[in-house]
Amino acid sequence: MKVLGIESSCDETAAAIVNDKKEILGECVLTQLEHKIYGGVVPEIAARSHLEHMDEILEETFKKSGLSPCDIDAVAAASGPGLIGGVVIGVMAAKALALALNKPFIAVNHLEGHALAARLTSDVEYPYLLLLVSGGHCQILIVKGVGNFERLGTTIDDAAGEAFDKVAKMLNLGYPGGPIIEKMAALGDENRFVLPRPLQNSGDCNLSFSGLKTAVRKIIESYSPDNNIEHAILRKKDAADICASFQLAVTESLIHKLQKAIVIFKTKYPHGKDLVVSGGVAANTYLRDRLKFLAETEGLSFSAPPIRFCTDNGVMIAWAGMERALKGLYDDLNFKPRPRWPLDANAPKAAGAGGVKA
Ligand code: KG4
Ligand code: ZN
Repeated sequence: MKVLGIESSCDETAAAIVNDKKEILGECVLTQLEHKIYGGVVPEIAARSHLEHMDEILEETFKKSGLSPCDIDAVAAASGPGLIGGVVIGVMAAKALALALNKPFIAVNHLEGHALAARLTSDVEYPYLLLLVSGGHCQILIVKGVGNFERLGTTIDDAAGEAFDKVAKMLNLGYPGGPIIEKMAALGDENRFVLPRPLQNSGDCNLSFSGLKTAVRKIIESYSPDNNIEHAILRKKDAADICASFQLAVTESLIHKLQKAIVIFKTKYPHGKDLVVSGGVAANTYLRDRLKFLAETEGLSFSAPPIRFCTDNGVMIAWAGMERALKGLYDDLNFKPRPRWPLDANAPKAAGAGGVKA
């Protein structure tokens, strides 16, 4: 079986074809650079760019795979959550192809794409404990199966990736912030600035990053003669130390809550053996290394998608589509894209429900 997956929920226009032997037959990702000058994704610009590039991304994906559209068994698209203007473009492209080819359409939850990506590239078995850390989401979940998630914790304010992006913006380092902060942090002293670890004593698995962001802002302001962040003058070493201290604080906050989540996971699923991290922030090597160590200490196997499949891509959508297709979980062509779509509201549907069947 071969599934085409389309991603357009944020600032990547992407497509991929995977088969049920876990082979990637073709893939193409275009990261929109137009947003850099704004220091964040501008939804209208993103939607226009998806519209402009969707056809060429699809053509390129088919060209790389050596397949023709008729060879595809189902068409999946990230159908939410995300910036709705972009989501609609990917969903419409997928529905049009499904209709023209008389093949099933699959509405993939973008977060399910991130959540299942590690199963394409590693031997990860259900149930597993997942840390999903991206630009828009930060959650700890037990993944029990396709469309079957139990959320143990979530951020009560900013997502981890959003915090990386905002700190990079405060330091005038550019967008997206995560990769730049990681590079700067490697040159810095992570113990120079003492930053808060929010919600450490809350007793649950929830996270918070907005206080951490404010603490970083105060440090930067202290480098300005009038406490105005715009006037701050930092040496490269100061900026690197801030980045390293911030990256340490985010990592330790995540690890602290994961330790709590591991206790719950092991109690509920004594045979569960995998800890997985996914989403854009999972591209951070420092975080990956610390999580690998945590997993080893806790007697779990650690998995993460290869770095290029952590940030948004078509492969993860195609693979989540494949997992759904293998269970006969297809969607109607009247499926409405969902700007908000919590993962744990993603209850499994009856096999074969709805959909245009081949
Ligand atoms: O998963 P993703 O591509 O998009 C969403 O679904 O949100 O994640 C993008 C986020 C951005 O906030 C970006 O700064 C962050 O992932 N990111 C990183 C790294 N690479 C990307 N954060 C920390 N370290 C990285 N190396
Ligand atoms: Zn994403």
